[in-house]
Amino acid sequence: MAQLILGLLIGLALLTWAASGIVQTTAREWFERDVRSRAHLVLAGASRSLSQTWDNPQELQGELLTIARDERVIAVEACGVDFSIRSSTPGFPEEFSCTQVGPRVRTSASTAFNAAESLRDWNTVAMLPTGRVQVTAMPVSAGEHELGFVIMVQDLSYIEAREGKARTFLIVIFVILAITAFGVPLLAARSARHEWSLELRRLLRGGGKHSGEFQPILSDLRELVGRMSSEQQEIPGQWTAASLKQALNRHLHGEKIVILANREPYVHQRAADGQIEVQHPASGLVTALEPVMRACSGVWVAHGSGSADRETVDLEDHISVPPGEESYRIRRVWLTEEEQQGYYCGFSNEGLWPLCHVAHARPVFRAEDWRQYRAVNQRFADAVCSEVDSRDPIILVQDYHFALAPAMIRRRLPAATIIAFWHIPWPNAERMGICPWRDELLQGLLGSSILGFHTQLHCNNFLDSVDRYLETRIDRENNAVVMRGHSTLIRPYPIALEWPNHWVETAPSPEECRAQVWRDWGLKPNALLGVGVDRLDYTKGVEERLLAVERLLERYPEFRGRFSFAQLAAPSRTTIERYSELNEAVEALAARINQRFGKDGYQPIILLRSHHEPPEVFRFYRAADLCYVSSLHDGMNLVAKEFVAARTDLKGVLVLSEFTGAARELTEALIVNPYDLEASSEALATALRMPIEEQQDRMRSMRSLLAQFNVYRWAGKMLVDAARLRNQERVAERLAERTHADIQATR
Ligand code: F6P
Repeated sequence: MAQLILGLLIGLALLTWAASGIVQTTAREWFERDVRSRAHLVLAGASRSLSQTWDNPQELQGELLTIARDERVIAVEACGVDFSIRSSTPGFPEEFSCTQVGPRVRTSASTAFNAAESLRDWNTVAMLPTGRVQVTAMPVSAGEHELGFVIMVQDLSYIEAREGKARTFLIVIFVILAITAFGVPLLAARSARHEWSLELRRLLRGGGKHSGEFQPILSDLRELVGRMSSEQQEIPGQWTAASLKQALNRHLHGEKIVILANREPYVHQRAADGQIEVQHPASGLVTALEPVMRACSGVWVAHGSGSADRETVDLEDHISVPPGEESYRIRRVWLTEEEQQGYYCGFSNEGLWPLCHVAHARPVFRAEDWRQYRAVNQRFADAVCSEVDSRDPIILVQDYHFALAPAMIRRRLPAATIIAFWHIPWPNAERMGICPWRDELLQGLLGSSILGFHTQLHCNNFLDSVDRYLETRIDRENNAVVMRGHSTLIRPYPIALEWPNHWVETAPSPEECRAQVWRDWGLKPNALLGVGVDRLDYTKGVEERLLAVERLLERYPEFRGRFSFAQLAAPSRTTIERYSELNEAVEALAARINQRFGKDGYQPIILLRSHHEPPEVFRFYRAADLCYVSSLHDGMNLVAKEFVAARTDLKGVLVLSEFTGAARELTEALIVNPYDLEASSEALATALRMPIEEQQDRMRSMRSLLAQFNVYRWAGKMLVDAARLRNQERVAERLAERTHADIQATR
């Protein structure tokens, strides 16, 4: 603000300076013109008496003295046609005497001097030691007979004095204007701000009369203030595992949490050597929620998908995790081949997944898949209900696999607090409309108390879909949907990472990671490395990413033989045709690029198609010069956040698709449209050439955001919102009970 005002003042001063120059020149011209016409008037008025006294030097002198009496006339001289001085007043400047002016104005030396012709419009301004003067000459004649001419010298120094006054006047006017222009609005703004703060205070305290000025944004204001104050009250400073636990104890009285998610956080697999291995699945959902469960404890209900899962559970299908720490339990639910096919591969991943992502795969909706989806949702809902130990438990339902579960759980546990979170985008209402079972999906989700999305846009899309397809009341003030008396809050909660992150804390230093990767892949000392980490899914834009690398090598030969891109690709949903096609396409593309640019042991694309455990993934993150996240559409994308979390050395550049939720938060990344190969290959080149100081600045800023907006805050905010809702419902319930009792008593 101070800078703006300073800038405006400097501008105003320059303007004043320019204006005073213009005023000075114009005023001078006016004054000089005025003096000239005065001289002509005086001389014209005196011409008759001059001609009459022309031959009498004494009388002529008297006439000249009369003219020179005017305070601005310095001296007058009368000249003959032969340029002789006929008479002159004292002090006439020599440089303008008859002998000097005559030859200067004479038009032709060959003919006799003609004063009328030569002196027409003759005037001059000159500088004398005494100051500026105006010199005017006029012919004197007696009828047709030309007698000579008179020269009059006038003082112009008074004009300078007047110019000075005009300039001062102008500056004073500008200063007054400046004070008025800045001061008055400033005072008005101050007084308006004062009025507004009083009005806002009145509104937020909910009392007294108010003018209605803030009526249109009243609900937003209340919500904002509510959120801010609850956050401040809940956790001053940064959210941690301990503060999340504390919030849970304080607001939800330490009630245990039950999470329902298809993917389990620990998968037991029987390895080729017969040993049982524990795997951490490649899943953003697991990355985010596992630390929350470690902090809060409770039960995670999931599909038991590992080959050794059955062997590792107790009689009630439970297993305590994390191995060796055992802070919560997984409850495994077993699915038959048909159930897995219809519910997971079919309706979830061939129907809902392409429906919700703008990634050009056609959704397939089969009645049989829908039947399985409904049945499996019921099985999981029943499993959840069997895990709770109160009539009003807190249940977190995760993702598109379980759109029907919230309403199913609500039917059995009407007082439960159900928080559903949709981890993928929600499409616009038109697109949602193509699903034959859209109404059932919407109704199922509206069984929740709170329904969360990563972004406000997805919340809006959901509300629009409800508006279009269901008979409900949408409470726009509170962003809630009321269906058959039950209210569901629709809120954005951008998902985040555990911070500090235990994978980062246990990883070797970035230098060691780099040395290890360089050794493993035989990279030259001056090599540059990019990394991509994904499930092999068509929404992740892996083909576009490899094409951008190819374009980089085409456009910038300096990177050939030097830059390699390591793509860690975890096989995913491999029984679905679109995924097996993608698998082949990516392999063929990598082979083509390697064929085209690889030589003497140099391999531009290092394609690693297998499951990678987090320590290996973090080794690549910490070793790389850049990470390219090129999703064609993504709810959030936690790979982008993980790369930033991994860079404790503040090095490395994140190149990030604009179509991820993460792009709204990680604005210091190089944001690209992954379809635009020119722009994305250029961004890769920019990343590889970025000076270290700039890398550090960008990383520092993104890291501080991730530290603040971590997953404990994400979960904490949802739980605190749920607690508030729960209190409101309890109060309403008690009120209803009391009213009922009063009515009974009066009967
Ligand atoms: O992005 C949606 C999501 O459920 C993520 O939360 C998770 O990373 C991924 O899909 C897992 O997919 P799947 O469970 O099919 O392997």
